[in-house]
Amino acid sequence: MSLVVTNIGELITNDPERGVRRDAAVVVDGDEIVWVGDSAEAPAADLRLDADGAAVLPGFVDSHSHLIFAGDRAAEFGARMAGERYTGGGIRTTVEATRAASDDELRRSARRLASEALRQGTTTLEIKSGYGLSVADETRSLRLAAELTEETTFLGAHVVPSEYADRGADEYVDLVRGEMLEAAAKHAKWIDVFCDRGAFDGEQARAILKAGAERGLGLRVHANQLGPGPGVRLAVEMGAASADHCTHLDDADVDALAGSDTVATLLPGAEFSTRSPYPDARRLLDAGITVALATDCNPGSSYTTSMPFCVALAVREMGLTPTEAVTAATAGGAAALRRTDLGRISPGARADLIVLDAPSHLHLAYRPGVPLIRHVLQHGAPR
Ligand code: NIG
Ligand code: FE
Repeated sequence: MSLVVTNIGELITNDPERGVRRDAAVVVDGDEIVWVGDSAEAPAADLRLDADGAAVLPGFVDSHSHLIFAGDRAAEFGARMAGERYTGGGIRTTVEATRAASDDELRRSARRLASEALRQGTTTLEIKSGYGLSVADETRSLRLAAELTEETTFLGAHVVPSEYADRGADEYVDLVRGEMLEAAAKHAKWIDVFCDRGAFDGEQARAILKAGAERGLGLRVHANQLGPGPGVRLAVEMGAASADHCTHLDDADVDALAGSDTVATLLPGAEFSTRSPYPDARRLLDAGITVALATDCNPGSSYTTSMPFCVALAVREMGLTPTEAVTAATAGGAAALRRTDLGRISPGARADLIVLDAPSHLHLAYRPGVPLIRHVLQHGAPR
């Protein structure tokens, strides 16, 4: 089945050869984009979607989410907004609820969030485990995540679970890089470690990432969210695809990222929900670093599935222009997942695109909080 989208007022291609086009059309065949050009010259197709002068952009690539969990932590959020600090300690509350939930409860909740994300233009979603923290519960989380996406990430090293409090972190690290990794790896493409205060230190994180790499998984790191630390430099040293959060960076961290192909993934929903200072996205872009924007959707630090919300925050609070923020939310996410078929509208790319209820991508930040996604095409299918 082929489909042509005509009368596109503004087409954001993220393709250096094509740039931003006016009065454009896009043809998709099956799940692939096959033609991009002037609307007046668009070839016929089985189906026709008239964009009526609206803006069209690649579907959002949300390269960082934690969708497999049960329960919520609204009370914790309320307390924070009344002055409490975020420490990550609440992760264990979600672990308890997640372990107690049935497969179907977890599946229903994750599906609801994934379809919420899709309605807001997210056509690719990375999903992490990390609220199971036992061999069986991490494996199950990843099995359920794999029902929703091919971009699955093993985050057994989220925190040390309470049953290991007496035995010590190193014993848990051995479990994660041994038996847990062995079981989880069959459902995971990536491995991630929360390398931060109250979670895992540089040496522990290195050991876990090394085991993951040996098992054939790609690397990602939760780095420098709660304070300065070794996470970002470790991510670069180990060739991770992405260092995520990057809230507290010093010059050496920025230099390391600048000389690497590790993407800096920024998660402004987390700063919003933990009332923390935002990362300096301007500084990263000016240093030539590839920046991605993602939601970090989780019940503790960022309970949003909305990429448009993250775009608006990045513009208002992190010094990005609307164009840079949209690039980070699309091509940036694709780079963070090392996917060359996503985040662009050009022949050969996957047919994931969104038609806005607006004439320009500027409206995503200009009209914050307004539902501006009129149509979503995912794998070539209208959703
Ligand atoms: O990315 N930083 C670590 N993990 C999540 C938060 C998890 C939670 O609070 O439940 C994050 O922000
Ligand atoms: Fe996260």
